[in-house]
Amino acid sequence: MANVEQPLAQTPVQDRALDRDCTTLSRHVLQQLQSFSAEAQDLSALMTRVALAAKLIARRLTRAGLVEDALGFTGRVNVQGESVKKMDVYANQVFISVFEQSGLVCRLASEEMEKPYYIPENCPVGRYTLLYDPIDGSSNVDINLNVGAIFAIRKQEGEDLDGTAQDLLQNGHNQIAAGYVLFGPSTMLVYSIGKGVHAFTLDPSLGEFILSSEDICIPEHGPVYSVNEGNFWQWDESIRDYIRYVHRHEGYTARYGGALVGDFHRILFQGGVFLYPGTVKKPEGKLRLLYESAPLAFLAEQAGGRASTGTQPILDVIPKQLHDRTPLFIGSKEDVALVESFIQEREREQQDQMAAARA
Ligand code: AHG
Ligand code: MN
Ligand code: MN
Repeated sequence: MANVEQPLAQTPVQDRALDRDCTTLSRHVLQQLQSFSAEAQDLSALMTRVALAAKLIARRLTRAGLVEDALGFTGRVNVQGESVKKMDVYANQVFISVFEQSGLVCRLASEEMEKPYYIPENCPVGRYTLLYDPIDGSSNVDINLNVGAIFAIRKQEGEDLDGTAQDLLQNGHNQIAAGYVLFGPSTMLVYSIGKGVHAFTLDPSLGEFILSSEDICIPEHGPVYSVNEGNFWQWDESIRDYIRYVHRHEGYTARYGGALVGDFHRILFQGGVFLYPGTVKKPEGKLRLLYESAPLAFLAEQAGGRASTGTQPILDVIPKQLHDRTPLFIGSKEDVALVESFIQEREREQQDQMAAARA
């Protein structure tokens, strides 16, 4: 037999390093699905497009201070009643642009747009909808602190002929993929397609997101509680009871970055709980269900954690409107359960008082 040239031997370390560098997002999705079917290829292509959007936004963010007109406010107010940052508008458009001519996504529902954006040429083929918060933590963007982007992918049901996307008003179990991008010291993309939670780190020298953490599990309990204590006076007594508890017990530490993605990312790795309760001004809370709480709840549950409105799992909530908000308690199972126990305790006391008043 001719002396077939064997590939030059690499050391096991070199082999592992090369294999790691080849574990890109698109390959990982196909590995997860154990399939090369059209549906699997679609999902892999969808995630690759999300990754492209992340890279375009990361590029803008890293140079924002040097780019004319990249920072600051637009002077407009969005459907949320919030002042819109120029980076919100840019990032919103990036997601639209990367999905045009993709044949994948037919509709995009965004925190920044009152109604979904349709890509008609994709609709006959692309049966997916992208729901997203293009820049999460906008208040951090002009001061070069971490921000994020949050996304979820759902399959369109029905023809949506009236353009109101009523089929999106379903609970979070309808998400086929969800994740976020953390624009921090490194740019990370964390996602799940229902088979665990996995993190990719952008390697700028490759221009690729490379697998950095697989099958992430939220610790059952963690020391972090993450909440804006400036709202203390606006909370229900039950939440104040919880805060008094963590103030008086050893082993808790407060961390709050003003950007949900960064605060959640810390808890995903270190454990603890993030809270955005209802307030006097916003009884239903500030965070939006379809493109903030539900995608993160999907991740939290996939990572063995929990996400609740305080009385109901986030993933069970059915929105009435596209931009519906709910209170959010998300993180380690034990820590979310502890917050819920204070809410239940107060409810029991109120019921007892009402029963006593009727007697
Ligand atoms: P966004 O920038 O997309 O509007 O989201 C901001 C959210 C969330 O990221 C963060 O946890 C929360 O607003 C902070 O709200 P407060 O400033 O009221 O604490
Ligand atoms: Mn947000
Ligand atoms: Mn936002």
